[in-house]
Amino acid sequence: MDRYAVIGQPISHSKSPSIHALFAQQTGQDLGYEAIEVAPASLAAELQRLHGEGLRGSNVTLPHKQAVAKLCESVSDRAQLAGAVNTLVRTDSGWTGDNTDGEGFVTDLARLGITLTGRRVLVLGAGGATRGILAPILEARPAQLVVSNRNPWKPEELAELFKPVGVVTPRTHLALKGDRYDVVINATSAGHTGGLPLLPGRLIADGGDCYDLSYGDASVPFRQWARSQGASHIEDGLGMLVEQAASSFAIWRGVRPETAPVLKELRRLMR
Ligand code: ATR
Repeated sequence: MDRYAVIGQPISHSKSPSIHALFAQQTGQDLGYEAIEVAPASLAAELQRLHGEGLRGSNVTLPHKQAVAKLCESVSDRAQLAGAVNTLVRTDSGWTGDNTDGEGFVTDLARLGITLTGRRVLVLGAGGATRGILAPILEARPAQLVVSNRNPWKPEELAELFKPVGVVTPRTHLALKGDRYDVVINATSAGHTGGLPLLPGRLIADGGDCYDLSYGDASVPFRQWARSQGASHIEDGLGMLVEQAASSFAIWRGVRPETAPVLKELRRLMR
């Protein structure tokens, strides 16, 4: 049986084993998928060990996405631009790295009917999660793309990095005062500690959409804020999680599973 895994730390709460088990069942693929706890200090050795054991591929999650990119034999263009790898594919001599987060994000937005083209888009946060989604957002040709962050130099760095793809306007959260956006995306990790960036009021235009890359409890503060601001459409990132997993599965197995029933089952399990 072909073996796959997700590596990260902590990893015990990862939903990836359940998602891939459902994909395997649905597509009739004979494979095993496990969660493996890997500490940053042993990352290189673990990748080598798993390769030696014949692992076919792996997902990569926090805190390793950026470090793994540097340990791959080669990485895809989109992983290079994101500076992060979430999908490893085995070759005889090592690992190649890809990043399906951005694809998962836009596929989920399409599923939800949230459009980016011609709209004013605000991304909150300028860390690894933001880097993974900027290229596909720019490719959708928004009217404007602003990235705001607590720490001002990070969005400036991203604006420079993504210049070949399109225009990213850097801001601090407080400098957003007076702006209006059609789509607000939370890509900060603030929700994981029950927080939310400090934001000026009335940021969301009439009919505006809000999307949180987090899901579960971590998405509660942003969803509450979005509701208090009168957003028309508020979504969490569970759909993106399932879509990025489907893209990884398709890379490994050559077949893309249907995501809707898996997302439904996941929501039921999380209730
Ligand atoms: P990830 O891979 O999840 O993006 P990261 O690279 O550590 O994680 O980035 C975390 C992001 O969340 C950053 O933009 C961070 O802002 P700073 O760069 O200013 O630190 C943001 N963030 C985390 N906690 C936050 C909080 N309480 N308020 C505002 N922003 C926060």
